[in-house]
Amino acid sequence: MTKRAVVRGVGHYLPDRVVPNSEFEKTLDTSDEWIRARSGIERRHFAAEGQGTSDLALCAARAALDDAGMVPDDIDAIILATSTADLTFPAAATMVQSALGMTRGFAFDVQAVCAGFIYALANANALILSGQADRVLVIGAETFSRIMDWTDRSTCVLFGDGAGALVLEAQTGTGETSDRGILSTDLNSDGRHREILYVDGGVSTQTTGYLRMQGKEVFRHAVEKLAATAHTALDKVGLKDSDVDWIVPHQANLRIIKATAQKMGLPMSRVVVTVQDHGNTSAASIPLALAVGAARGQIKQGDLLVTEAIGGGLAWGSVVLRW
Ligand code: UT7
Repeated sequence: MTKRAVVRGVGHYLPDRVVPNSEFEKTLDTSDEWIRARSGIERRHFAAEGQGTSDLALCAARAALDDAGMVPDDIDAIILATSTADLTFPAAATMVQSALGMTRGFAFDVQAVCAGFIYALANANALILSGQADRVLVIGAETFSRIMDWTDRSTCVLFGDGAGALVLEAQTGTGETSDRGILSTDLNSDGRHREILYVDGGVSTQTTGYLRMQGKEVFRHAVEKLAATAHTALDKVGLKDSDVDWIVPHQANLRIIKATAQKMGLPMSRVVVTVQDHGNTSAASIPLALAVGAARGQIKQGDLLVTEAIGGGLAWGSVVLRW
């Protein structure tokens, strides 16, 4: 008998405003053609004025709870992965907790930038396996539009806003990889690479700052590290690339997604791709892809998924789970 953190519900939310690549042609020396060719992005959603990250997170959380057939007080813990929390404190997760009307349990944010949802899943899994919580709402939500330098064409055309959420529940498995739920996790960071992806402001400088990225350098690390972390997580439980039904990658760049699939020897027909519609939504990108992949009928109960991400830190990692 082995305890497993099993997905019971999934949901997502995208703000109403859809911005096509052509919008940027009006103010920047860029083109729809360049953005599509270099990143695969065609459009992204931007939050409305006054709409905060916790508002997006709340909508995704409600959708995931509905999907699970649960009410907020069924949940023991909320983990919200974000780098764009509404306020310096309290944690945006506690804002979601109170907006849900949840009066018990605990809630906290995880900040690992684009790898945030992977870190949040690994933490939720640990809480469940240790008996600290039986039902955990894991959310990824971002408003990266608030940290864009709109004069920097090399970054502002790439990012978008959105939120996705999963409800995980403790269930008893056999200990075999045929069990549903999280089967393994792999987390990594290397703070030496701070300069290639960071925000040039923050609380102790009393500024908000803008996202700065050396895209080519990040690209190089991504192609090298994403397949490696996926292999590490699969190796931990004796699984092979060919066992994987779906790669659900962080949605930053279609060329990175393709290169990783190729390194894993899997065709693009086994990869969930949403980058064309969402852009890079940082910690929200994986739960958005999970929700959209399930809604499209791609991801089905019992499928073996590998999900992987890399971003600022550098921080990267992967999770192997059976849906
Ligand atoms: O989620 C966190 C992880 N982030 C990532 O994974 C992002 C990783 N990096 C990337 O996705 C890609 O590196 C980018 C999409 C950011 C850039 O693609 P690239 O093929 O690496 O292009 P580049 O940065 O080497 O730029 C090529 C050219 C440059 O011009 P020169 O120097 O060759 O004359 C840029 O100035 O494209 C120019 N450029 C643009 N041109 C039109 C940069 N941004 C734009 C733009 N429109 N928006």
